[in-house]
Amino acid sequence: MSPIDRLIIEFDTALRSVVGGANAERPTPGPELSLNNSLDAAERKHAAGLMRVNHVGEVCAQALYQSQKLVARDPQIQEMLNHSAQEEMDHLAWCETRLQELGSHTSYLNPLWYAGSFAIGLAAGLAGDKWSLGFVAETEKQVENHLESHLKTLPKDDQRSRAIVDQMRMDEIEHGQAAKNAGGATLPESIQKMMQAMSKVMTSTAYKI
Ligand SMILES: [Fe+2]
Ligand SMILES: [Fe+2]
Repeated sequence: MSPIDRLIIEFDTALRSVVGGANAERPTPGPELSLNNSLDAAERKHAAGLMRVNHVGEVCAQALYQSQKLVARDPQIQEMLNHSAQEEMDHLAWCETRLQELGSHTSYLNPLWYAGSFAIGLAAGLAGDKWSLGFVAETEKQVENHLESHLKTLPKDDQRSRAIVDQMRMDEIEHGQAAKNAGGATLPESIQKMMQAMSKVMTSTAYKI
């Protein structure tokens, strides 16, 4: 692919993340399960808030993987990043689908989340493969913990959201492992804490808007 082809594809990905219209390769998990049948208004609102947080997480994942791909030099690492990024695209599409099913919307601040994550990913990438992969691994771990906490608080009868979140959680575990196996270093605790603090701001904002 020429650099121009790549640029156009990356730009298309960025646009789909921010504006919507992500394409999934795998079908949305839980198609056979009831969609909203037994959810009352409050449950539906809560589920939508959580799925919006997850959608923003996936917008950030797109930005992160895109920026990492730009700076990674090793073809093997690039291939690993591409594979994870495609699965993140599935997650993005699934969350978008679920938000529509719940009659809700994606975050109005998506351009901001995308730009911020892209800048952070680029900075991590410039620090070298070992740190950038470490950053990916730590991000995936925090996302995994997050998804696990969502499984505890999602409405019990919202089987559809649960099936989506559970599949995402399993994929994130693999992404984190792949980044570690590719040579990702463990980040200093101070950086891990800072990342947690930033994700707290993101999640509490995205739940509402
Ligand atoms: Fe994901
Ligand atoms: Fe992931």
